[in-house]
Amino acid sequence: MNSLPSGDQLIIAVSKGRILNDALPLLAQVGIAPLDDLNTTRKLILETTDPGVKMVVVRASDVPTYVEYGAADVGVAGKDVLLEYDGSGYYEPLDLKIARCRLMVAGPVGAAEQPGRLRVATKYEGITRRWYAEQGVQVEVIKLYGSMELAPLVGLADRIVDVVDTGNTLRANGLAPLEHLCDISSRLIVNKASMKTKHARVTSLIGALAAAVGESSPWSAA
Ligand code: ATP
Ligand code: PRP
Repeated sequence: MNSLPSGDQLIIAVSKGRILNDALPLLAQVGIAPLDDLNTTRKLILETTDPGVKMVVVRASDVPTYVEYGAADVGVAGKDVLLEYDGSGYYEPLDLKIARCRLMVAGPVGAAEQPGRLRVATKYEGITRRWYAEQGVQVEVIKLYGSMELAPLVGLADRIVDVVDTGNTLRANGLAPLEHLCDISSRLIVNKASMKTKHARVTSLIGALAAAVGESSPWSAA
């Protein structure tokens, strides 16, 4: 049975899916690889090749919660998730440059201007409200949890706000990118208390990961 790490051990939270696929090779470069096969294990806390590091694999949108509350010392999360979470209980010291995409407003190709309030479907409710509020445009935001591209096709919304990479999903559904909110990549985040209480371990991890992604860091190994 797994026991929770104590003392100077670190727990790192990584989201399932796309980020995990890109983060695992990066973590392996700094000597952290899960001992169990992630495709088959049902364990939720994983031992790694570094005896001082354990890994938890959680939903993408849950990573900042685990780190803010100190249940994980560090985490890997998309900037989209961090902007939506809008928390202050963690530091964001490093851009890992993985899972890169863009947050965009999109809509049907050639759609006529709609009278009245635009309806915008998105899982990024907070980001979307802030984006339109900054422009002084009143919209109705419709919260969805996935497949945003479907919303304009079935008359649920006039626009969507979602991440776009190749643009294939938009094109396949007769949609086009309209406005660029920001570029997205995954970030390393660190619990504020862990940065103090586990300073040596945390800064050594930041330094090693910074070197692995070709970034300079105050904590990079010389
Ligand atoms: P959840 O399981 O919490 O609903 P999710 O389905 O958004 O999360 P993923 O699709 O694995 O999980 O996406 C995780 C992160 O990967 C996103 O938060 C974003 O930063 C990035 N991402 C999403 N889609 C793409 C894409 N098409 N190309 C590159 N990066 C992407
Ligand atoms: C994401 C996003 C878009 C798609 C964009 O979905 O929600 O649908 O990627 O990528 P593209 O521009 O390269 O087509 P994902 O594939 O992660 O599925 P999801 O709906 O389960 O999040």
